Amino acid sequence: MKILVVNGPNLGLLGKREPEIYGSETLAEIISRLRGYAADRAEIQDFQSDIEGEIVHAIGSAMNVFDGIIINPAAYTHTSVAVRDAIAGCGLPTVEVHLSNVHKRESFRHESLTAPVCVGQIMGFGSNGYQLALDALLAHLNNRKIGE
Ligand code: DQA
Repeated sequence: MKILVVNGPNLGLLGKREPEIYGSETLAEIISRLRGYAADRAEIQDFQSDIEGEIVHAIGSAMNVFDGIIINPAAYTHTSVAVRDAIAGCGLPTVEVHLSNVHKRESFRHESLTAPVCVGQIMGFGSNGYQLALDALLAHLNNRKIGE
């Protein structure tokens, strides 16, 4: 299985950015741990951008190349019709991840424009959310229960 992991704006600053909310790991460390966890179950390719159009382009280009997408759209979760349309349009099963539990935070974070076009959403488990998302996505793609 080939999985694209997309991270949106400001996630390149993980490790330095509000560590009390997002933890102390860098994005490179999170992706490296995810690759180790995936082992031979999935090939992980990752992409981070602060630019909405680049994210839209990466999702659109994933069609016919990847089997599924894990995405943390960051602030674009709450604002981007374009990212939502890209996820819906690419037709790939997509799992949305957030490091923090956005429902415990400001009300403007409570709405996700992207979640309705995703298979599901995982939030509040810090960087472990990426592993949880991978297990969920692979189970979905293989039509299996986790642990089976
Ligand atoms: C986030 C939550 C978003 O509200 C925020 O804009 C982010 C990170 C998270 O992973 O918790 O940048 O997606």
